[in-house]
Amino acid sequence: MKLDELQDSFDRKIEDFGVRIKDKSIFKVRNDVFDESTYLALYKLAKKGMITAIGGSISIGKEANVFYGEQTDRAIAIKIYRIQTADFKNMSEYIIGDRRFSQIKRKRRDLIFAWTKKEYSNLSRAFASGIRVPEPLKWDRNILIMEFIGEDEVSYPQMRNSFLSDPSMTYNQIIQFIEDLYLKAGLIHADLSEYNILIGGGPVFIDMGQSLQIDHPRALFYLKRDITNINRYFMKSCEVVDPEKFIDSLLATFEDRKSGMEVN
Ligand SMILES: Nc1ncnc2c1ncn2[C@@H]1O[C@H](COP(=O)(O)OP(=O)(O)O)[C@@H](O)[C@H]1O
Ligand SMILES: [Mg+2]
Repeated sequence: MKLDELQDSFDRKIEDFGVRIKDKSIFKVRNDVFDESTYLALYKLAKKGMITAIGGSISIGKEANVFYGEQTDRAIAIKIYRIQTADFKNMSEYIIGDRRFSQIKRKRRDLIFAWTKKEYSNLSRAFASGIRVPEPLKWDRNILIMEFIGEDEVSYPQMRNSFLSDPSMTYNQIIQFIEDLYLKAGLIHADLSEYNILIGGGPVFIDMGQSLQIDHPRALFYLKRDITNINRYFMKSCEVVDPEKFIDSLLATFEDRKSGMEVN
């Protein structure tokens, strides 16, 4: 079946499952964006009731498209990594060196599936550690379904587009999240900036596909880069931590807790 026929039949079949198509933009994306396996994966998720409505496009990024959707009564975000047009080189750099993915075949599709799974698992660990991130709900192949961070089908703004009434408070919350991510979830975000933090009430960390475990060989490089990025954003509006001192004290706390655990 040709892709446009597949799109038509998918469109009809998905409606047979009771999925409301609130906006056709998910099907309007150019043919080279979604391949057959992406349609099949969406179809499977709809069949399982993981998606009950599909809405408009929220974002088209370098590697993924994000759509609004619904699962029964709850709003969801559907992030779909593009198999053909994702920025593959950028992804390989992060995944090589992460021991959870050492046996990965260097095939494009497999790498993107592993990446999607990694974003799901990173969000799960962060969420379980009490850091404010979208709750991950399900992943399949290159599709990640998560809690929608926004209201009335509109995402909360990225921090770069958001007015902060108390910058110092927001900065401290972000620094606390970085610390909790390290100490409780064992992770470093690794692409933290005013683009990957949404502001809704407080800060919400998103986009964790590239996040790495603290035992990654370049962990401290990425940790320092995250803090430097955030400092650059806040430098003019509030007092910021010294990255080196912050990292030293974080590592000291980490060692204390580790030896504390060994003693008890
Ligand atoms: N869970 C979510 N809820 C609401 N909006 C989201 C969610 N995840 C992503 N978005 C929107 O999509 C944009 C891109 O998502 P992101 O995960 O950063 O992907 P990319 O890899 O393309 O940068 C975000 O800036 C935000 O506007
Ligand atoms: Mg992003």
